Amino acid sequence: MRVTEAFRAAFGADPRTVWHAPGRVNLIGEHTDYNDGFVLPFAVPWGVTAAVSPRADGVVRLLSLQAEGGPVTRGRLGDTQGWERYAAGVLAILGDRVRGADIAVDGDVPQGAGLSSSAALEVSVGSAVNEVYDLGLTPMEIALIGQKAENDFVGMPCGIMDQAASALSKEGHALFLDCRSLASRNVPLDLAADGLEILIIDTRAHHELADGEYAKRRAECESAARTLGVAALRDVTDLADALGRLSGNERKRTMHVVTENHRVEAVIGLLRAGRAAEIGALLNASHLSLRDQFEVTVPELDVAAEAAVRGGARGARMTGGGFGGSVIALTATERVEAVQRSVTAAYAEKGWQEPRYLRATPAQGARKLA
Ligand code: GLA
Repeated sequence: MRVTEAFRAAFGADPRTVWHAPGRVNLIGEHTDYNDGFVLPFAVPWGVTAAVSPRADGVVRLLSLQAEGGPVTRGRLGDTQGWERYAAGVLAILGDRVRGADIAVDGDVPQGAGLSSSAALEVSVGSAVNEVYDLGLTPMEIALIGQKAENDFVGMPCGIMDQAASALSKEGHALFLDCRSLASRNVPLDLAADGLEILIIDTRAHHELADGEYAKRRAECESAARTLGVAALRDVTDLADALGRLSGNERKRTMHVVTENHRVEAVIGLLRAGRAAEIGALLNASHLSLRDQFEVTVPELDVAAEAAVRGGARGARMTGGGFGGSVIALTATERVEAVQRSVTAAYAEKGWQEPRYLRATPAQGARKLA
């Protein structure tokens, strides 16, 4: 393995363990996780592989095969920058339980596509450190530590979806997660049996505002919940009544979150009934709600989703936080090329760089490789 060789070359010994953790796409349930709602992501075949050995001297050495230069040595975890912060953040959250570590990571998550390479990094490092220090953490606990690292250390107020998808997914399944109770279930997702697949369209758009806008949406949702006197928007049971008591952005955000939770449940019901092709309409509805009510799409996402459907996809929606990243299109396998042609043509008309197309079936969550 490449990462093991790099570890040996940099640190002069074999790693004690090697773990792989994947990135994700979200089938449906967007901007619901931090509202205590429902999500249905699945792991993608790309991720981060972390080779780790413990050290007794408090030193942390970090090496990425994707970053320039050699390993960096860190006395203080707070001094880290860039990619290092995600790994260092996990160690910082674990505190005294981790005395030091040599860590080499190798990632192949397509960059900028919004497929959660950061969660893959946190969960791969967390899983490996859990093993070498015999911490006895469950996959969900590792996911929560990754989220906390991102919240407190990197300063991104994300929910639990990405890390949970990376830690808990099962090959051939989507992960249904109740983000309040943290109860989860692996839901069979064998689209190929219905002649279908998910085409990932990386719009190549990334807007620098993304993190600030994300925090703003989250704050608006929390403020709407306070106005309504509920713990979280998950608790809204009478949408019409709630909308009557809200105005402006709070009203729109609530409309999205409450209906999106319903859509997740509807998708699960259709999948269980063996009617995967019919979830397309719900994917479309989710996209429109994210565009018009939650206002996190950008023209590249809208054009890609519309062109995908025009090209014959059963449904398409942006996936992840928004403001760039990827669209997923539920497509009959025989129509994948027609869908791609349609999106490429729509992009060419706008004079935009051609999107990147990725094909993915649901992959396994975090696993030990060596
Ligand atoms: C980002 C966050 C997740 C989730 C999604 C939106 O990916 O990291 O926690 O909130 O956005 O659904």
